[in-house]
Amino acid sequence: MIEEKLKWNEKYKTLTPKPPSVLINYIPTANAKALDLAGGYGRNAKALADKGYDVTLIDISEIGISKINDNRIKTFCLDLDSYMIPKNEYDVILMIKYFNLNLLKQIPSALKKGGYFVFETIRKYPISKEEFFEIFKDFEVIYFSEKPFRFIGKLFNYK
Ligand SMILES: C[S@@+](CC[C@H](N)C(=O)[O-])C[C@H]1O[C@@H](n2cnc3c(N)ncnc32)[C@H](O)[C@@H]1O
Repeated sequence: MIEEKLKWNEKYKTLTPKPPSVLINYIPTANAKALDLAGGYGRNAKALADKGYDVTLIDISEIGISKINDNRIKTFCLDLDSYMIPKNEYDVILMIKYFNLNLLKQIPSALKKGGYFVFETIRKYPISKEEFFEIFKDFEVIYFSEKPFRFIGKLFNYK
């Protein structure tokens, strides 16, 4: 994904910081673990750190990551195309303004029971609604909109 890396490195040289996604407001305050997939310059990761989360952020752009400058956030400059999320590891996972079907399918097993997934994409229908909800069939829907495609789900807490 060298093109993505070059594209985003170039953008992050001049990008003006934006506020976090409004979806972050739905996530409860907690002393718990969060993963921000393709988190860029960390606008959403910082908002989760403010809520008490221990946040890990992964992104391919070292320029984006260099702008984070926040020692509450663990950063990794990696290509997510070949990434495997550890299982049963996180209380919150973000995939915001980035889409990767392979990672999307890993979310249910990567979250702890009761964990939240926050999804927002710039594309209207990255996959069909049916396909999306098949992946997230074990989630309670906390928020959903189609335009833009936004979703927050909470993994059922099985007894
Ligand atoms: C539109 S930005 C969104 C950044 C952040 N999620 C936000 O909402 O501010 C897309 C991000 O995806 C990252 N990205 C694109 N392809 C990637 C890949 N293969 N692996 C890791 N990060 C990638 C880019 O570097 C960029 O930071």
